[in-house]
Amino acid sequence: MSKTLITGGAGYIGSHTAKTLAVRGRDVVILDNLSYGHRDFLKWGEFEEGDLADTAFLKDVFSRHDIEEVVHFAAFIAVGESVAEPRMYYENNVRNTLNLLGAMQDADVERIVFSSTAAVYGEPQTATLAEDHPLAPLSPYAWSKRMVEQVIRDYGEAYGLKSAILRYFNAAGADPAAEVGERHQPETHLIPLILHTALGIRESIKIFGTDYDTPDGTCLRDYIHVTDLSVAHALALEHLANGGESDIFNLGNGNGFSVREVIDMAREVTGGNIPVETTERRAGDSPALVSSSEKARNILGWQPQHADVRDIIETAWKWHQKDCR
Ligand SMILES: NC(=O)c1ccc[n+]([C@@H]2O[C@H](COP(=O)([O-])OP(=O)(O)OC[C@H]3O[C@@H](n4cnc5c(N)ncnc54)[C@H](O)[C@@H]3O)[C@@H](O)[C@H]2O)c1
Repeated sequence: MSKTLITGGAGYIGSHTAKTLAVRGRDVVILDNLSYGHRDFLKWGEFEEGDLADTAFLKDVFSRHDIEEVVHFAAFIAVGESVAEPRMYYENNVRNTLNLLGAMQDADVERIVFSSTAAVYGEPQTATLAEDHPLAPLSPYAWSKRMVEQVIRDYGEAYGLKSAILRYFNAAGADPAAEVGERHQPETHLIPLILHTALGIRESIKIFGTDYDTPDGTCLRDYIHVTDLSVAHALALEHLANGGESDIFNLGNGNGFSVREVIDMAREVTGGNIPVETTERRAGDSPALVSSSEKARNILGWQPQHADVRDIIETAWKWHQKDCR
């Protein structure tokens, strides 16, 4: 059977997607250099350990496996670090993606699903963000994703590459069976930081800014369960395999939850005391980032099953209790 290559499949979203694709009967190959991935997340499919910077390795992987499609997660993901170290970000996220696209072209692999981000929109000009909202990245990280989007579209025009570009809002939660979950080092994402505080690994959770023009003064974000996100990748692959047009899709739930609401919900779920420290606003944080994901629902038939933020926190809590033991 022909296979699906998952770059970055030892990471958070990639490992959940490996599970979803394997459960749906796909034969998967994971390519990861384990720079931020985890060997114990490699539970589905075959593993190829190596770096996208290594073009000989890429050529070898494509020659040894009958790969018919690629899901490309591998990237560096920390916005703040990208401001301090743009070279790292452009080299890994842009140049190494060019290596991947070149190896795909040489091996006649014509379909790719690419992990982009809501950060390509920059400051929101409307209450919810649809795919045609103007693009104005605010960091090298967001620019690196924007650039790759353009490269993929140009390769589509010139070489016939078929693509689904998926712009995620805030991925959160964990596999409901807790076989994999979120483990970033360093951790910068809100829900894991809150749960680490509930577990006593951190002393308090910081709220950056309490004077935003939002109902309780803290930032609003759109949280999407990682399993729902992984299913969207499976549907995007099926869309392309069935001859669907290349397209761009937002992935979020369309509801904004404030930082305080998420902390309150985590207190309910964990029953724990979660001390809060309020500090100044952080540069570059938008007051609200909320998606319109109608297009993914209409064209891909995507229907999130874990849209409730309680469900997202409960699955994350189950995972973190196990992972942080
Ligand atoms: N987590 C989110 O909320 C979020 C939001 C928007 C977009 N994204 C995008 O989703 C993708 C996955 O994010 P994640 O949270 O799972 O991150 P992650 O760090 O857990 O996973 C990324 C994986 O890619 C691997 N990798 C990085 N560079 C590599 C290289 N040169 N060669 C081989 N492997 C390499 C890492 O080892 C890691 O396993 C990224 O592209 C990220 O930009 C994530």
